[in-house]
Amino acid sequence: MHIQKLHINNVRNLDTVELKLVSGFNFVEGLNGSGKTSLLEAIYLLTRGRSFRTSKIKNLISSTADECSVFSVFKSTENNSIKVGLRKSRTAKTMLRIEGDNQTSFANISQLVPTIVVAPELGNLIDTSPDSRRKVLDWGLFHMEQSYHDKWKLTTHTIRQRNVLLRQKSRDKNLVSSWNRKLADISLEVTSMRNVYFSNLYPYLVRVFESLGLKEEYLISLYKGWNDPEDYYELLSVNQERDFERGYTSQGPHRADIKIKLEGKLAKDVCSRGQKKMISLAIRLAQIELLHNSIGKNCLLLIDDFAAELDHNNRKYVCDLLHKNNSQVFMTCIDVGAVENYVPKENKKLFHVKQGVLTESDCN
Ligand SMILES: Nc1ncnc2c1ncn2[C@@H]1O[C@H](COP(=O)(O)OP(=O)(O)OP(=O)(O)O)[C@@H](O)[C@H]1O
Ligand SMILES: [Mg+2]
Repeated sequence: MHIQKLHINNVRNLDTVELKLVSGFNFVEGLNGSGKTSLLEAIYLLTRGRSFRTSKIKNLISSTADECSVFSVFKSTENNSIKVGLRKSRTAKTMLRIEGDNQTSFANISQLVPTIVVAPELGNLIDTSPDSRRKVLDWGLFHMEQSYHDKWKLTTHTIRQRNVLLRQKSRDKNLVSSWNRKLADISLEVTSMRNVYFSNLYPYLVRVFESLGLKEEYLISLYKGWNDPEDYYELLSVNQERDFERGYTSQGPHRADIKIKLEGKLAKDVCSRGQKKMISLAIRLAQIELLHNSIGKNCLLLIDDFAAELDHNNRKYVCDLLHKNNSQVFMTCIDVGAVENYVPKENKKLFHVKQGVLTESDCN
């Protein structure tokens, strides 16, 4: 799937934008404050229902308007068109339509369009919380395994139910034990799916790490969310008293993480800022390759301020990899000259933004 047409109204300083896009690289060039990140935000809003730089979603609506909208025509690889429209107002509920059908969640559009954002605002995956790394893992599974989404939803629901019981004054041990069984069973399923996904991803990770010049002794492993005892049902019983004291389930699949070490030490403690950024990018690139090679799905990449901190070889490698995997890319830069030449002429477009107005420019 790729975006063929995009109409934006009243997203931040973008009053009216109408673009015809290519399925390859769409470069967006403009000065500071011109509206580059806002364009990426509008696309993300359409496919994920939220912003990647604020939780205060209403800030996205232009200060001079009461509502904003994003409309897009997507083209599938079989050349089918799918129309998707979103309207967000200051007062009413967000409205999302796919082919005219009102949607109650963003699950369908998220499933259709695997979207990845790489932006300075998001920082790197190394310094962030384990939860953010777990979400990256879950993103991969969501797109690879149809049944994963429901299984993970059931897991989080079961943990919430157990936590409610743990906080009750009556401390009903038998009731909590019955939820231990349910939680252990569903956790086993989720964890084994994560293990399979991670072992499929691993060879891609090794290759991308090496290609991006991350050649030192990196060790990447999947932490399932608990250690001893190995059997999760047994662990829940062992932990039960402690969990009562804390009022929540302390260990389990909700604590899963991707652990990255360099020469035996946590990457967070020893890697440079640039290395952390490259590691984060490497993980996302490996996921894109796996998704494309195993089930033929292509991704939508929103890359803000691409040139920053990537050297010539790495910029070229990233562009080549995205091109090879049929990704549709939106890439912003202050000066597009720094990146545009890495991409062949046939499948690229260049847009110039000035005070919220986009115009198409000639590519080299
Ligand atoms: N709700 C809003 N209504 C109108 N304008 C807004 C709103 N929110 C932000 N802006 C303005 O939109 C402009 C574009 O911001 P944006 O972050 O997209 O710029 P940018 O091109 O990415 O800049 P930079 O290169 O500095 O990252 C800014 O001038 C900002 O002040
Ligand atoms: Mg910006």
